[in-house]
Amino acid sequence: MEKKMLNELLKRPVIPVIVIDDANDAVPLAEALLAGGMDVIEVTCRTAAAPQALANIKKALPEMLLGAGTVVTEDQAKMCIDTGVSFGLAPGLNPDTVKFFQANDTLFIPGVMTPSEIEQGLSLGCKMLKFFPAGAAGGVNMLKNLAAPYGPLGVKFCPTGGVNLDNMLEWLSMPIVSAIGGSWLATKQQIADKDWGTITQQVKEALAKASEA
Ligand code: 3PG
Repeated sequence: MEKKMLNELLKRPVIPVIVIDDANDAVPLAEALLAGGMDVIEVTCRTAAAPQALANIKKALPEMLLGAGTVVTEDQAKMCIDTGVSFGLAPGLNPDTVKFFQANDTLFIPGVMTPSEIEQGLSLGCKMLKFFPAGAAGGVNMLKNLAAPYGPLGVKFCPTGGVNLDNMLEWLSMPIVSAIGGSWLATKQQIADKDWGTITQQVKEALAKASEA
């Protein structure tokens, strides 16, 4: 399942990073993404509503590639596996979390920003890494430099943090980048306002732009 999910995720160039305060908004939000052509979501474990939001999407929309983001504690990792998420991500690389997901045959994408962290991820068997915080950690130029030694190994990156509609093509034009992540696709405020139409529009714009890469 882990490998199958990696192959699916490698086909998706954009991952929306979601911070949700009301689990009742989760399914309409995911439907707004689907209406724009996006069948992948990262619900961050940053709010009390996140576990129920994940469970609601899992139940109502099984076609969604359901990711849990900001998985930084053991309890959150257990919740993700109990909920049956499709994949998990974190801002950092915690070997315990990586191994726990692997033991449960579930894809995990740890965050890295240095050569040593990339090598740690590789030695743990990770084939996809999150470059975080992408903009502040040196931006496109930093990842281009990292791609020289690590690109030939086949590892792929998902830069997140400071990525937006205006700069996403700079990232996606790098062969080492398979996807970008961003919160602008569905902001906390837009979700709270139930502004589903705007979210669908933003998703369409992002996917149209990604197709230019
Ligand atoms: C993340 O959670 O991965 C990032 O904080 C998202 O960063 P952004 O808000 O700059 O898109």
